[in-house]
Amino acid sequence: MDNVSGRCACFARTLERRAALKVCLGIALGLHFVRPAGVAAVDPKDERPQDGDRLVFADGERAGQVIASADLPVGGPRVMAFPMAPATRLVRDGSRLNKVLVVHLDPGTLGEETQARAADGIVAYSAICTHQGCEAMAWDDATKTVWCPCHDSKYNPRDNGRVVAGPAPRRLATLPLKLVDGVLTVAGGFSGPVGGQTH
Ligand code: FES
Repeated sequence: MDNVSGRCACFARTLERRAALKVCLGIALGLHFVRPAGVAAVDPKDERPQDGDRLVFADGERAGQVIASADLPVGGPRVMAFPMAPATRLVRDGSRLNKVLVVHLDPGTLGEETQARAADGIVAYSAICTHQGCEAMAWDDATKTVWCPCHDSKYNPRDNGRVVAGPAPRRLATLPLKLVDGVLTVAGGFSGPVGGQTH
């Protein structure tokens, strides 16, 4: 190789390296800003509960206020809640699938799996019936079960939301909890799918 062609080859390699560096830099920067076509941004109010979210009352006079363990009498009744991002205080109530049912039970009555996801006997489940997505979930005080009045399904909150009566096809998804300064706090995502068969 003569001197001229050698210099040309060297120059070409330098250009290739620069081009490659530009591509890498563009990818690195673009990852944060470019969304694939057809993928819509998720509204933070619609995002599923996140680790560290606080639970707030979903309705009633105290709607939007954080729920403390002291607010929940042992043995029920249930309280309806939504998760709230602690830094922004944004309540994730944009999707009904984020609604959870919370009930305080005697820790000694909880099954092993339920105990692992509970906070001092307080358990949280998806508030949407797995049958047809009814969200009028009530508390049956006589049997201490979660009751869907739409078609009479019942779930056992001491046994990981297991179906004990009615047409519901699967258990309620659990939302793991922890207590932070006495306040109900989300400790992880739902244990399974949420919502009904048709909703
Ligand atoms: S929607 Fe709950 S039992 Fe049918």
